[in-house]
Amino acid sequence: MSEHTASIGLETKSFDADVLQPSVGNQGVDIRKLRPETGYVTFDPGFANTAMARSSITYIDGAAGQLLYRGYDIEAVAAGASFLEVAYLLLYGKLPNITELASWEADVSSHTMLNEEMRSFFDAFPRRAHPMAVLASATYAISTFYDVYRRPTRIQEIDAGARTLIAKMPTIAAWAYKKSIGEPYMYPNNEYSYVENFLHMMFSRPTEITPIDPAIVKALNVLLILHADHEMNCSTATVRSVGSSRANMFASVAAGMGALWGPLHGGANSAVIEMLQAIHDDPDATIESTLERAKDKDDDFKLMGFGHRVYTNYDPRAKAISTFAQEMLDRMDASDPLLDIARELEAAALEDDYFVERKLFPNVDFYSGIIFRALGFPERMFTVLFSIGRLPGWIAHWMEMNRDPDTRIMRPRQIYVGECARPYVPLEDR
Ligand code: ACO
Repeated sequence: MSEHTASIGLETKSFDADVLQPSVGNQGVDIRKLRPETGYVTFDPGFANTAMARSSITYIDGAAGQLLYRGYDIEAVAAGASFLEVAYLLLYGKLPNITELASWEADVSSHTMLNEEMRSFFDAFPRRAHPMAVLASATYAISTFYDVYRRPTRIQEIDAGARTLIAKMPTIAAWAYKKSIGEPYMYPNNEYSYVENFLHMMFSRPTEITPIDPAIVKALNVLLILHADHEMNCSTATVRSVGSSRANMFASVAAGMGALWGPLHGGANSAVIEMLQAIHDDPDATIESTLERAKDKDDDFKLMGFGHRVYTNYDPRAKAISTFAQEMLDRMDASDPLLDIARELEAAALEDDYFVERKLFPNVDFYSGIIFRALGFPERMFTVLFSIGRLPGWIAHWMEMNRDPDTRIMRPRQIYVGECARPYVPLEDR
């Protein structure tokens, strides 16, 4: 028994549990022996109160609106670092020095190309295929070219798998986009930085190289950093869950992409734009009627981009993106009527008792779509951009989980409420 314990009274018996100490944040009641010793299980749909692992990657203080990557505040990291620097930090737990960063960038840069046979996968998808479906399928598909990553045993193989995924993801994402618009795929050009290369593959054509705007590079770099990790969110929990069966990194990450795509998670960034566009296009829709719909329990509609499982305060990523969206539009001397609607919606929601009482604030997805639009990305690519950003986080969690001696195959219990054992009735007697 540790010096910190908790006791749970259960009808005729009690259960004494160790209390696990965090470096900061919630303490954890260790209930691993609860079922074997008492026959009870805990009931926690959505795992809102359940810690799935000890982790040292990312810390969120939801009440204070604080987000730390390996102890470093997100705002400072986003202001000073490159996305690959942050990827290194998340994967290896420390900021790289100049030599380490140069070597990591060179390593990533020399693996951006896809095996030429991968083209046939892209060719085979229908033109209307959603880029998220193509991204996840292609993530699975690249694993077929590297048998060693299927069951990596050595640390070097795991590191190489991580580097391969991070290096090739922008190429896969850009090819998914090119496929959807019927343009030729652009090959990576390793003269460019990571973010420049992605923009090049997205927006250049073989006949015409689109100049790369440094302001757009800077903005995308920050956006990718802001999405890079968020501890045990739905997609990361999925990556860990799939990886707990010892599935390889590629299979686990592809499954995480499936989870991210949902509109309650990373798919919210495009759902926000659809919602704002609908308000813009419908002369009868108002800010008030939208909020009323969101509050109506008989209506499935939610205020997309609002609310969060962990934040009961303003999501620091949303704050940064909101300011950034305005700066980008000002710089381009452009305006976006959807940004004006978003601001009105936010102001009204933050004054509305329903949202105030439930501590519902804008989350990362509320303004990210507006800035992605301003940077020239079509709506169908928004969750793909989120995936490129979240990739280092998913991999860092997969690596951490594999090193953790407490990891067991993810296999929750249930409270069974179906029929008890009853005799089978032959077909002719029913
Ligand atoms: N609009 C209206 N009501 C909401 C919203 C919303 N966006 N979000 C939460 N609520 C209400 C719920 O109906 C519930 O009300 P009740 O107490 O009267 O039943 C209460 O607030 C608590 O919300 P839950 O759904 O229990 O919170 P949970 O932690 O399960 O869900 C989630 C969090 C999924 C993010 C939710 O807030 C939501 O659906 N938001 C809209 C989708 C969205 O923006 N998702 C992106 C999240 S960020 C990310 O994943 C990258």
